[in-house]
Amino acid sequence: MEFFMKYMYDWKEKIDENELNNVIQILKNDGLVLVPTETVYGISANALSDEACKKIFIAKGRKQDNPLIVHVSDKEMLFKLVKNVSEIEEKLIDAFMPGPFTLILEKNEIVSNVASAGNTTIGIRMPENSIIHDIIKQSKLPLSAPSANISGKPSGTCIEDIFEELKDKVDCIIDGGECKIGIESTVVKVINGIPTILRPGFITEKDIKEAVGEVKLSNNLFKKVEKDELVESPGMKYRHYAPKTKCILVAKSNKQIEKVNEILEEHKNACVIGFSEDRTFINTEKFIDVGSKNNMNEVARNVFSALRKVDRENADLAIIEGVEKEGLGLSIMNRLVRACENNVIE
Ligand code: TXA
Ligand code: MG
Repeated sequence: MEFFMKYMYDWKEKIDENELNNVIQILKNDGLVLVPTETVYGISANALSDEACKKIFIAKGRKQDNPLIVHVSDKEMLFKLVKNVSEIEEKLIDAFMPGPFTLILEKNEIVSNVASAGNTTIGIRMPENSIIHDIIKQSKLPLSAPSANISGKPSGTCIEDIFEELKDKVDCIIDGGECKIGIESTVVKVINGIPTILRPGFITEKDIKEAVGEVKLSNNLFKKVEKDELVESPGMKYRHYAPKTKCILVAKSNKQIEKVNEILEEHKNACVIGFSEDRTFINTEKFIDVGSKNNMNEVARNVFSALRKVDRENADLAIIEGVEKEGLGLSIMNRLVRACENNVIE
């Protein structure tokens, strides 16, 4: 199957009503639309249509067993898609939706089994971004939308980063500017009554604890998971966020800059993803600035773009400065450890 991008809409300033009607038409006809959200861009399609959801898997080259998240505009739409919502699940919905938060719930029959990859559960997210919100609200269609990238690559946070990769894979591209948050939503499933974080994101362990009293982190967040291992979330199994260039992660410590320079001695052609304030101390011309080490929001916003720059540096190695595994830093490290395929220097 082939796709040809027919429409490119610039909605950075405002949503164009005529173009919006066309987007709705494309979605109703089982087409694919590249849309912005507050976390990362998504490749969206009608979550009630098997045909539409199949196209997402083909466009991304995504493994059949890795379910899609379904996006809704409000609580009313959410409750049409799921059943048996417990008290604690409803508390989580009220605390974190709309926002960068995905809750795994028991699905009902109207949600495509292709979207859920045959599972009885489905991840539900209510995005805050007004572009995807308005599309869902006005079309009345829940939208399946995985991150906008070919499977395995870093997620896309601005159109410039993903245009070449995806332009022939979707019917329509909507440019909504740079994503506000930059890493994907926190994925949570209530297991034995306890909210368990399957993928860390902008909503942190602390935020969830404050809202509902209890929270657990999945054991697999930093582990290398074997291909046939049974895990709570299929996404954990797959190579992810990785540039083609080999990457090595230097964990945060007071010797971090020295360690980076040591590796550079042996790998003169390496590039470095590092903090703005370390640039002058790191001995390379190939420096990719990820933001200030004192501003994790900025690092989160830049991290995927930085990973995408690596392959353009013609380097034989990428050395990455790690952050503290705390709060939003833990979510950033989850992406970096996987980008480096667990190649970490403590
Ligand atoms: O911020 C986001 O969540 C973005 C934007 C576009 O909304 N979407 C996104 O989707 O990151 P995706 O498909 O790239 O990642 C979804 C993750 C995968 O790791 C998948 O395995 C997991 O959520 N997931 C989805 N449904 C699940 C389910 N029923 N049970 C367990 N894990 C699930
Ligand atoms: Mg993804």
